[in-house]
Amino acid sequence: MSNTLKNNDFQDIFGGRRSIKVYDPTVKISREEMAEILTEATRAPSSVNLQPWRFLVIESPEAKAILAPMARFNQRQVETSAAVIAVFGDLNSIENLEEIYSKSVELGYMPQEVKENQLPIISAYYGNMPPEVNRDTALIDGGLAAMQLMLVARAHGYDTNPIGGYEKDKIAEAFGLDPVRHVPVMLISIGKAADSGYPSYRLPVDKVAIWK
Ligand SMILES: Cc1cc2nc3c(=O)[nH]c(=O)nc-3n(C[C@H](O)[C@H](O)[C@H](O)COP(=O)(O)O)c2cc1C
Repeated sequence: MSNTLKNNDFQDIFGGRRSIKVYDPTVKISREEMAEILTEATRAPSSVNLQPWRFLVIESPEAKAILAPMARFNQRQVETSAAVIAVFGDLNSIENLEEIYSKSVELGYMPQEVKENQLPIISAYYGNMPPEVNRDTALIDGGLAAMQLMLVARAHGYDTNPIGGYEKDKIAEAFGLDPVRHVPVMLISIGKAADSGYPSYRLPVDKVAIWK
């Protein structure tokens, strides 16, 4: 059960999202609900459905103590949030190709012949992929999952702050993850908001969109 009110009003979910930096420290998110939030976040799309996002849920005081010195000017989020989720992109996501496509066939989502056609093509594509393209893909897909996580969090009655100000070169190793394989995407603090954040300006659409 959630501690907080759920919200199913999409206009409010995305229109009311603000970066929240202070949370009610007494509100925790159960393992069960966090798993639900992450499961919903993974409905995000990804390149050939390889789902390279990985989530490190930093919630215990011990884990937060490891994170804090790496979180620079973002200490309040670390201290007061229910958790900080470190989002990574897995550069070896191709390892899950067989499982993802076999399951898709087993569940009736994909005809067997599509799997048989696609697997060698995708394997060859990933096998020859320049490392920077693999990295870009992991970051793009990881970013999509991160955005979805922030919206899903609001649907569960929580708020978030995306955080890029942390020691990206240290985070994987500090938590025992292979730093060669895990590209840091961002941190996301999550919890019950203790303030309402600030409204923030957006450039007019004419400045950010081009019509041809
Ligand atoms: C990739 C990324 C990194 C960010 N890094 C930080 C950060 O280190 N600390 C922080 O307080 N906010 C950070 N932010 C939050 C932005 O400042 C915020 O999203 C922006 O000002 C718009 O405000 P809003 O999120 O309330 O709409 C980051 C946002 C993104 C997308």
